[in-house]
Amino acid sequence: MYFIANWKMFGNLKSINTINRVINLAKLTKFRKAKIVYCPPYTILDKFVKKTKNTRISIGAQNCHHDKNFGPYTGSINAKMIKQTGAKYVILGHSENRQTGDTNKIINLKLKSSLSENLNVILCFGEKLAERKKKKTFQVIKKQINIGLKNVKNYKKIIFAYEPVWSIGSGKVLNNKDLEYQIKVIKNYIVKKFKIKNPRILYGGSVNPKNINSLIEIRFLKGFLIGSASQKSKKFIDIIKKSIN
Ligand code: 13P
Repeated sequence: MYFIANWKMFGNLKSINTINRVINLAKLTKFRKAKIVYCPPYTILDKFVKKTKNTRISIGAQNCHHDKNFGPYTGSINAKMIKQTGAKYVILGHSENRQTGDTNKIINLKLKSSLSENLNVILCFGEKLAERKKKKTFQVIKKQINIGLKNVKNYKKIIFAYEPVWSIGSGKVLNNKDLEYQIKVIKNYIVKKFKIKNPRILYGGSVNPKNINSLIEIRFLKGFLIGSASQKSKKFIDIIKKSIN
């Protein structure tokens, strides 16, 4: 089970020690099954890498630029630079970045440059509320996955994260039956289209210590991408403990 903490634009040097309790939890044999990944902001990425050295926790970035090389892109960081910090993962296609200009084509370029650096990619996709209402959910997701993976030959390092846009930060989550159906449809599509036997599919959107008991029941899920509830170690640990027994 993956527990990926997306800290978004939160965290500073002081935050680093707040993960001590999670580091300790990861040492316990019982939680070997939990694959914990922290994705803090770029500014503290290397500090997190150092902090989690020789632990079972991995570190990832939240985005990257698509250009493999250095270039005149103010404010950007590419996959190679992320790799050099020691981070092993990168989140791509998050709806908050899609909203500010990341198209499926750009995400595909980012994905390919990340794979060429041997990073694990967490590819996010999901529908907006209006798209769901118009029954376009699957159509939207299909396009996001298809273009996102265009000309990609090796899928081993790709983790899929279904995050309905309307569920992020809203406290709203699909009921289990609908969410399980949605994940199943996504899984079947990925298996058939890309011939990936056991795609790792995560769910993200308002995951918290209260709803995890029910979310964990959903078949086909391999973990969670967690925003605000991952910033507090207590909540994050709660989620992990309730998921692993
Ligand atoms: P929340 O858990 O805060 O809803 O955020 C989800 C998310 O965007 C994770 O990438």
